[in-house]
Amino acid sequence: MTRLALVTGGTRGIGRAISEGLIAKGYTVFANYAGNDEKAKLCAEETGAHVVKFDVSDADACAKGIKKIQSEHGDIDILVNNAGITRDTPFHKMSKDQWDEVIAVNLTSAFNLSRLVWEGMRTRGFGRIINISSINGQKGQFGQVNYSAAKAGLIGFTKALALEGARKGITVNCIAPGYIDTDMVAGVPENVLQNIISTIPVGRLGKASEIGDMVTYLASDQAGFITGATMTINGAQYIAG
Ligand code: CAA
Repeated sequence: MTRLALVTGGTRGIGRAISEGLIAKGYTVFANYAGNDEKAKLCAEETGAHVVKFDVSDADACAKGIKKIQSEHGDIDILVNNAGITRDTPFHKMSKDQWDEVIAVNLTSAFNLSRLVWEGMRTRGFGRIINISSINGQKGQFGQVNYSAAKAGLIGFTKALALEGARKGITVNCIAPGYIDTDMVAGVPENVLQNIISTIPVGRLGKASEIGDMVTYLASDQAGFITGATMTINGAQYIAG
């Protein structure tokens, strides 16, 4: 039977590449998004993903979204917590709203959705949860105290949840991408971005498909012994111990 995957923030950037990678392997993919209807429509037309609109930081909206998928299509076997936003600014200028928004969308969302699919995965004895963290959750980044905290939080979330899923056939892993060629990275001021690229030993930005390919592998049956791990994919910009 075809396995069902939900990819949050799955219609653009890294998320879209993840959706495409999973579709290519035969999964039925639900690509969640929050705002950009035009990009979502394009994603549905070009990839065949089912696009589903709800705000991952809103627990009630997540519950409704998951319930709709489950009642119409079945249980979710693979959850990719990818949705993320930045509100970059030096800490001395950071507002409580900028902190709250980034923690809610990038970290609390993983709780909201994992909690909703967890019991089904436990009952069925199979599940894959893949959390998209960041190089900046591993090493910190000037201007990203909120984002680095949320992304580091995902790494701890992954390690603890992996222990709880281990005897139930559920793997929980994290990917920490470096700077990938997406709209989010294009939003970094040009001079700042050039400086950042000069610190990437491979000498280029990563490709979204390079993250999508790793997700596809982690979702597969062959990856059943990989759990609690953080996969660093950053062109050697930061070599985590
Ligand atoms: N290290 C040390 N000092 C720095 C610095 C750095 N990296 N960047 C800026 N500063 C200093 C400046 O030199 C300046 O110092 P002075 O006041 O002494 O002149 C001071 O900090 C303030 O700098 P700005 O005036 O530039 O501050 P700003 O408010 O205009 O903006 C910023 C600062 C928003 C953080 C901007 O530098 C920025 O966008 N940085 C990039 C942040 C980044 O990497 N974001 C990643 C987005 S992509 C992503 O997140 C995906 C992923 O997972 C990798």
